[in-house]
Amino acid sequence: MVDKALGTGGRKSDKDLKIRVKSAKGRKVSSTKWLERQLNDPYVARARAEGYRSRAAFKIREMDEKHKLFRKGMRVVDLGAAPGGWSQVAAKATGSTPANPLIVGIDYLEMDPIPGVILLQKDFTDDDAPAMLIEAMGGKKADLVMSDMAWPTTGHRPTDHLRIVQLIEIAAAFALDVLAPNGTFVAKVFQGGTEHELLHMLKRHFKTTMHAKPPSSRQDSAEAYLIAKGFKGSNDTVPGEGEYDR
Ligand SMILES: C[S@@+](CC[C@H](N)C(=O)[O-])C[C@H]1O[C@@H](n2cnc3c(N)ncnc32)[C@H](O)[C@@H]1O
Repeated sequence: MVDKALGTGGRKSDKDLKIRVKSAKGRKVSSTKWLERQLNDPYVARARAEGYRSRAAFKIREMDEKHKLFRKGMRVVDLGAAPGGWSQVAAKATGSTPANPLIVGIDYLEMDPIPGVILLQKDFTDDDAPAMLIEAMGGKKADLVMSDMAWPTTGHRPTDHLRIVQLIEIAAAFALDVLAPNGTFVAKVFQGGTEHELLHMLKRHFKTTMHAKPPSSRQDSAEAYLIAKGFKGSNDTVPGEGEYDR
């Protein structure tokens, strides 16, 4: 359950902060603020207490509570998986085990192993990444493709916007290629960042599409999630040979 006390995305105004971090020589003001926010963030504490590698785990848990994303035995692809919170949640919710792994995660960062999760250290935008993911799934279709990917920002807004849109488009194309009928696609977007064209395309391929802002997503961030459910795709395409291959 979502803790009501955490209902504002764990954000507190500066005057509410309990732990203050003194600025230190050599540390930027932005780093001091980040550290202060981490130390005062109840989701960070909860993630540690519940054994999650990231506070992001609560975002997918909250979206699952509301939108019923997971079920036992389903196959899941986790794009931008590091450090592994979403994969941990997915492994538990699907009953994935090392003997019968149902989750495949990818990130260009190195990750510690997670039981029941096959992890690839790879840039998802590399041309051979989709084929590697499909191979890791044993050539089987996925029931859920979830993406929490975001490029590091450059500070140049138009560039950042374009890069984010491009990343979502590549993730969506991959989802259309590998999802089983009735499958679900979840992707991090940024408010005002989901292009009409992409949304229009997803609406054609899924029964329902919606935006979500889970309570643990910081209210002061433009982050939001797109949830597309009920993939209408056909049974007969083999992953990797679909309409949307790159
Ligand atoms: C917000 S974090 C994901 C957190 C994760 N959902 C969790 O619960 O721990 C975003 C991740 O996306 C990854 N990422 C961004 N662009 C990527 C790309 N092109 N290929 C692979 N991973 C990427 C980053 O390395 C980063 O680890």
